[in-house]
Amino acid sequence: MVKKKICVIGLGYIGLPTSALLASRGYDVHGVDVVQSVVDIINQGKIHIVEPELDTFVKAAVNSGKLKADIKPANADIFIIAVPTPFNDGFVPNIDYVVSATKAIAPYLQEGNIVILESTSPVGTTDLVEETLSKERPDLFEIDNSTYKIQHSKLFTAHCPERVLPGHIMRELVENDRIVGGTTPEATKITAEFYREFVAGEVLETDAKTAEMAKLTENSFRDTNIAFANELSMLCDKFGINVWELIKLANRHPRVNILNPGAGVGGHCIAVDPWFIVHAGGESAKLIKTSREVNNYKTEWVIEKIKNAALKFENENGRKAKVACMGLAFKPDIDDLRESPALYITRRLKADGLDILAVEPNIDNHKEFEIVNYQKTLEQADIVTFLVAHKEFKKLDIKTDLDFCGVLNI
Ligand SMILES: NC(=O)c1ccc[n+]([C@@H]2O[C@H](COP(=O)([O-])OP(=O)(O)OC[C@H]3O[C@@H](n4cnc5c(N)ncnc54)[C@H](O)[C@@H]3O)[C@@H](O)[C@H]2O)c1
Repeated sequence: MVKKKICVIGLGYIGLPTSALLASRGYDVHGVDVVQSVVDIINQGKIHIVEPELDTFVKAAVNSGKLKADIKPANADIFIIAVPTPFNDGFVPNIDYVVSATKAIAPYLQEGNIVILESTSPVGTTDLVEETLSKERPDLFEIDNSTYKIQHSKLFTAHCPERVLPGHIMRELVENDRIVGGTTPEATKITAEFYREFVAGEVLETDAKTAEMAKLTENSFRDTNIAFANELSMLCDKFGINVWELIKLANRHPRVNILNPGAGVGGHCIAVDPWFIVHAGGESAKLIKTSREVNNYKTEWVIEKIKNAALKFENENGRKAKVACMGLAFKPDIDDLRESPALYITRRLKADGLDILAVEPNIDNHKEFEIVNYQKTLEQADIVTFLVAHKEFKKLDIKTDLDFCGVLNI
């Protein structure tokens, strides 16, 4: 192991598992988060997010003294930035967290350090990180006085996007192939060598912009393919065809592989990252933009379907229906509610005056809804609507026309 001390900025779903894994491999890890309670929980050897195996890794890492959390960065050989990259109103990428993390590490940098941006980022963000560092720490850069361009950096700056699947993060951090793109060929090489120390998958070398675009491309590919399935589901509803049966049949073609439709697309990757391309690509990003719109429209369509069913019940029974919203998470078998269409649907139905029973087997409570046990809910509900295909729901013997995630069909 050439480099020993790592400073990880942002201890969420990506930064914390990465920190714990590196600590388990013998690195000294200084983890940084701006939220004091996150720092405190980790220093007690506990975790603030739900992810299988992570608790064991963090406990061992903290007990061995290899992982310490702090509110401030410290000197290190390698700095890894894993802070959020959401979007602002109008789907404009927000890289404020990246910029503020970059500024926060600047005073601690020394010649020869590696700075890695792991956050999913719009094309050009790694260059911006380097530019920001050159302003904060001019002593580490040679700048051309006439063009103000960086001629030489005493740091190695690179992007290495993360592509782990929540629920399998500890395994995928090691097994997945990784893409590393530096702002210079040397930065690419030295950063790739670091990843090869703990990644069993292949570490593929490119430049920073291609690495940034690769991550955005992966998620846009998924989004576009789900949009196709979602559009099919709305067409099938119009034509009186069971979309799940249709997809099963079509997928018997040796070169067809249609994904499953759902209540929309959520999570803070697939529902967000394509907008980074659309924002920068403008008119050239037609298909990617339309896919985002189709997936968002599917969520509105689901809301209308449920409202119509509730209205029909009320007309027929002379009282309001109790509507069970089965699932709030953005996908099956996780507790992550970020950008969740199911949560959005439940919220909208409640706001529009429907009598909602909110079910989410993966969380105990929620600030907006009373979380009701799913078996109890089924006894009380007049209308059952499946929004997320959680494993608990698959065993249920229930009939409903409002299965938007195929839990009764797949
Ligand atoms: N979660 C995933 O499955 C996943 C997968 C691939 C890529 N990513 C990308 O990785 C990045 C991080 O995502 P995440 O899921 O870990 O986010 P997260 O919200 O779980 O964690 C981010 C953490 O960073 C902290 N933070 C914010 N600003 C900070 C700062 N200036 N200094 C120190 N800490 C700061 C927050 O308090 C938070 O704890 C995002 O760009 C995301 O798109 C996430």
